Amino acid sequence: MGLTIYKNIGAIVGAETAPAPVKAGKAMDNINVVNDAWMAVADDRIMEIGSMDTFSQMSFGGACRVVDLDGEWVFPSFCDSHTHIVYAGQRDGEFIDKINGLSYEEIAARGGGILNSADLLHMTPEEELYRQAMVRINEIIAKGTGAVEIKSGYGLTTADELKMLRVIQRIKRNAPLEIKATFLGAHAVGRECVGRQSEYVDLVCREMIPEVGAQKLADYVDVFCDAGFFTVEETDRILDAAHKWGLKPKIHANELAVSGGVQIGVKHGAISVDHLERTGSEEIEALRGSSTIPTMLPGASFFLGMPYGNARGMIEAGLPLALASDYNPGSSPSGDMRFVAALGCIKMRLTPAQAFNAVTLNGAAAMELSDEVGTLTPGKLANFFTTVPQPSLAYPLYAYTSPLITHVWLAGEKIY
Ligand code: NIG
Ligand code: FE
Repeated sequence: MGLTIYKNIGAIVGAETAPAPVKAGKAMDNINVVNDAWMAVADDRIMEIGSMDTFSQMSFGGACRVVDLDGEWVFPSFCDSHTHIVYAGQRDGEFIDKINGLSYEEIAARGGGILNSADLLHMTPEEELYRQAMVRINEIIAKGTGAVEIKSGYGLTTADELKMLRVIQRIKRNAPLEIKATFLGAHAVGRECVGRQSEYVDLVCREMIPEVGAQKLADYVDVFCDAGFFTVEETDRILDAAHKWGLKPKIHANELAVSGGVQIGVKHGAISVDHLERTGSEEIEALRGSSTIPTMLPGASFFLGMPYGNARGMIEAGLPLALASDYNPGSSPSGDMRFVAALGCIKMRLTPAQAFNAVTLNGAAAMELSDEVGTLTPGKLANFFTTVPQPSLAYPLYAYTSPLITHVWLAGEKIY
């Protein structure tokens, strides 16, 4: 690929020379913007960023390619740290149930919800599952995402959980974005064990986790620790079993109730605790002094009509905050991270700088990828997108449905 110089950039957002691995509290108020800039990319990495004032004095050698961006803006790719993007079919029938007034729990209790997706996944051959997932991968790449975490959890039998994880590994090999894989066998009790929850937890601990670990199919383990799903004690057992295989936790916590999921996640050194629609001062206290990143999923609150998490409370308490899409067929059928950031501003009253930090660097940190992505920094991967010239940093989140992205680059390569 060689050396490419992008010149006449209207502004580079998130251009940081030595960023912290994560931004917490007040640090989230700032995101560095270099106006009227150039950026040098060597192969797949960012080499240098400067202001156009200095451009004429730079000598890059004869062999470089120069791209004139003519005032367009450059943003670091979004880092989406929580998705369920591998699934089969759709759940648009439940969308109608929801319009008719059924809650997420009521739909799940009637055998819909996650079990509905598990039935569909069971009937779908691995090749077709991969094909369907790649459609969504290409969709999120076009929407600006450059790193994504993907969970299993629609298998709920050993064979089908492994099938999902193999699909995620195949995406990892073939797609141009950064991928982390999470084993979420404890997403719901599989159909064959309904009514025998502790048997299912045994299956997760004694059969699924050792297989996932031995085959090295996942980076992380997740449990849906919430009312009607898995208890704190069951979560504790599962995380202990996963620890033996080096699977670090990322937990679904406090979506439907004050579940104790935050505290059990912190106890196990979770990378992140996610959802957090229902949290109070005890959860904030538990997170303080830990390295666990609170992650909120405002797209799920939007789609299910749930409360939004107390994002400002977390930041005011000095914590980092990540926002992710939760892209899944039941509670958030969208992977649009710009919309997630816009919801952060509109519904959680984050500033645009806080929202952009939450969907870039802090999302990267919630996947342990902040050395590679999340800011535009010399040495990191050249994962970025360009937009039409923007009047301000606020504008793309304010005018949240106006067309934005003109082109996308991942690892230095132009994808769109
Ligand atoms: O993150 N909350 C648990 N799991 C998903 C929803 C899964 C589904 O309904 O298919 C979520 O919202
Ligand atoms: Fe989720």
